[in-house]
Amino acid sequence: MKAIIPAAGLGTRFLPATKAQPKEMLPVLNKPVIQYVVEEAVAAGVDDVLIITGRGKRAIEDHFDRSVELEDLLERAGDTEKLRQVRGISELAEVFYVRQKRPRGLGHAVLCGAAHTGDQPFFVLLGDVIMPNASCLKRLREVHERYGASVIAVTPVEEQYVSRYGVIAGHEVEPGVWKVTDLVEKPAINTAPSNLAIFGRYLLTPKVMEILPHVEPGRGGEIQLTDALRELLKSEELYAISLECEGYDTGNVLSWIEANIALGLESPEFGADLRERLEALLGRGTRGEE
Ligand code: G1P
Repeated sequence: MKAIIPAAGLGTRFLPATKAQPKEMLPVLNKPVIQYVVEEAVAAGVDDVLIITGRGKRAIEDHFDRSVELEDLLERAGDTEKLRQVRGISELAEVFYVRQKRPRGLGHAVLCGAAHTGDQPFFVLLGDVIMPNASCLKRLREVHERYGASVIAVTPVEEQYVSRYGVIAGHEVEPGVWKVTDLVEKPAINTAPSNLAIFGRYLLTPKVMEILPHVEPGRGGEIQLTDALRELLKSEELYAISLECEGYDTGNVLSWIEANIALGLESPEFGADLRERLEALLGRGTRGEE
């Protein structure tokens, strides 16, 4: 199965860090965010990844390419572990790129992949959302196979945050699976149809690619994927799986910090030291020797 990873956004929520580098290349621990996303797709059986980039995103292509000088250096130094790590990144998957010439919204970015996905269903993974629990794509695929329809991931959010997300209306047809009856992109708090927010992962039927060219600019003057899915409801069913697992929208500074702390605490390499330092910072313990 193919996956589209939109990574063309300008990262305005993370300025000035994203002025001259892609937000998808920001590290969480020692790995760029987009590498987590590609690894998640590969773990779910994706072998063909299309990244939608734009101007100023060259570092993404370099990251998934060979790095001949670095590999030579590591080889000469006999550092086989790092060499394996560096080479592994360029061998993760078959990665293709299309440039979105102007940032015209998520829907438009996905449409840039139409020729690549053709008449097949495909995953969409937002390039700045890390999903630590690998089961999300597997569940999307299971529900897609059961109902033969597009499936999106949603997560319950506190009411005051609904206006940051696409939000669905629907009814639960089996535990954790919703049949979607409506969707709205970034609704005002008092008009949101639920608190179930669309969260960064989609498995879409090719019909979406037929709809997208006709979608008018919506919220923020952009072509919204949510609006295309709303249109899709007129001809196909749409389902949502509600995620128990937490994901991190790393395009937002606070969530990025949270992702670093959460994954840091779980990491065998940094976990114990980080916990100690955090406790010291919070005044609940003493900091160990540096
Ligand atoms: C996009 C989608 C929105 C979704 C959000 C998080 O918004 O348009 O529906 O809820 O990602 O996955 P963005 O954060 O790019 O503005």
